Amino acid sequence: MKKRKVFIGGNWKMNLNHLEGKEFVEKLLQLIRNNEKKEIVIFPPFTTLFTVSEVIKNSKIKLGAQNVHWEDKGAFTGEISPQFLIALGCEYVIIGHSERRKYFLENDEMINKKIKKSLSTNLKPVFCVGENLEEREKGETLQVIENQLKKGLKDIKELNGMVIAYEPVWAIGTGINALPAQANEVHSFIREFISQNYGKKISENLRIIYGGSVNKDNIKDLLKEEEIDGALIGGVSIKLNEFAQIINLDL
Ligand code: 13P
Repeated sequence: MKKRKVFIGGNWKMNLNHLEGKEFVEKLLQLIRNNEKKEIVIFPPFTTLFTVSEVIKNSKIKLGAQNVHWEDKGAFTGEISPQFLIALGCEYVIIGHSERRKYFLENDEMINKKIKKSLSTNLKPVFCVGENLEEREKGETLQVIENQLKKGLKDIKELNGMVIAYEPVWAIGTGINALPAQANEVHSFIREFISQNYGKKISENLRIIYGGSVNKDNIKDLLKEEEIDGALIGGVSIKLNEFAQIINLDL
């Protein structure tokens, strides 16, 4: 039995339009059985949120977004307000994903503003951290993670339902997942950081999830690790049967 409720997130990235996404969740709901031990959250693209929200209303699947802006409204062409996400029933939002850091030049300061804004709007951030291959090979992993945590959480007093996702960049979309013990080491480090900065109780309740090439075969061993409280799944979250199998896993 895990200490904390297992979080299974499906990050669809830029896949499934509003019609495809609707069909996907209709089918997914037929395949999954009620399992109170897990929290299931899917993160469709912005334009798919509405149709998906209509289907999953009153189901056990929750909704999240893949990004958010740090202001409520105004002249920010192309951006999405946290209020719009709340209005659609989003409970979570992914912040600081490595693809946003890499391709859209999101830096720690922007990530910090997004986290602050989300927390004050009652959106729960899924705050992503992770080192790249070069950093791991140089032995800098924990330093990189600490730096991302310090800057991303700067001046944040309360974590209010936040989830932290450890996503080593070298494991994302590569088919090479971190070994369970490798991930667990970083998760322990993150929990210790939170304990030192927010106290033991908050750190014990915080869920730290792993992301990077998670599939139905490797997830069981990952979740056996004490400090791994769930997974943020990319590619496999849009594979209907495999994602349903993961949701239905007995833990
Ligand atoms: P993959 O599961 O496709 O490796 O993606 C992980 C991820 O980036 C989840 O946010």
